[in-house]
Amino acid sequence: MALDLQNKTALVCGASRGIGLGAAEALAHKGCKVILLGRTEADLQSNVTTINAINNLENQYIVVDLGNIDDLKAQVSDLVNTQDIHIVINNSGGPAPGLLVDATTDQLIAAFTHHILASHTIAKVVIPSMKKAGYGRIINVVSTSVRQPIPGLGVSNTIRGAMGSWSKTLANEVGKYNITVNNILPGATKTGRLQQIIDKKQAKLEGTNQSAEANMQSVIPLGRFAEVSEVAGVIAFLASPGGSYISGTSIPVDGGRLKCI
Ligand SMILES: NC(=O)c1ccc[n+]([C@@H]2O[C@H](COP(=O)([O-])OP(=O)(O)OC[C@H]3O[C@@H](n4cnc5c(N)ncnc54)[C@H](OP(=O)(O)O)[C@@H]3O)[C@@H](O)[C@H]2O)c1
Repeated sequence: MALDLQNKTALVCGASRGIGLGAAEALAHKGCKVILLGRTEADLQSNVTTINAINNLENQYIVVDLGNIDDLKAQVSDLVNTQDIHIVINNSGGPAPGLLVDATTDQLIAAFTHHILASHTIAKVVIPSMKKAGYGRIINVVSTSVRQPIPGLGVSNTIRGAMGSWSKTLANEVGKYNITVNNILPGATKTGRLQQIIDKKQAKLEGTNQSAEANMQSVIPLGRFAEVSEVAGVIAFLASPGGSYISGTSIPVDGGRLKCI
């Protein structure tokens, strides 16, 4: 199976830590050049140094807030003026938890901007470059809530559903150019974000003998959280020539947690 990504370049969003960083490393292990995007320059700088040692290439980073669409468009346009981008990993922080009925319109607009508008802006800038190269992979890191809303994540559930529709529509439109568009639906994955969720749940259980971690793992058929590398490996596969006939899908990487078929 062709998994090699030599002579390919990927823009990986949210790559200062967590699943984004794991994806960048997994792509680099396949020989891909990576351009990291995030807000924290010191982390991006240090990650590029680590990744340079993986693929022996001159990887890059750009400091962008995905909420600043004009800056995002300008910086990604600058990139494609000097090189082709074959792979995009759309990934950002998840919206804050809370009930949908309590969410403000500003919270919904912010989530729509960080996820849909940012992904759409990047896609519009890079698709001509993918068409020219005859190779394109757009991979969105979303959530299992695309399939099954998660209680207490009102804004997130709403935006994830919209991402599912956005990517399916785009997949239909760009498939003829050998560009695939897919969603990864991570389950509970060992990142800083997961640890914050566990800490919050544990605080609510104070005074009981219950463990938030054990409660969360009890609904996962595999009985454990995902390693970042387990999610990143699926992303790298979809990005590779081996994933050439997979498009318009949402792939759960959740240890079997989703209840639906
Ligand atoms: N981990 C899980 O268990 C899990 C489960 C299901 C779904 N997910 C979803 O998967 C995605 C990634 O999760 P994760 O656990 O890897 O999250 P994470 O550890 O919080 O990392 C988020 C990444 O996004 C970047 N980021 C956040 N806001 C940004 C912004 N406005 N502009 C640019 N970059 C931004 C962060 O870097 P900077 O702060 O440096 O910008 C960081 O690199 C999220 O959407 C999350 O909801 C995660």
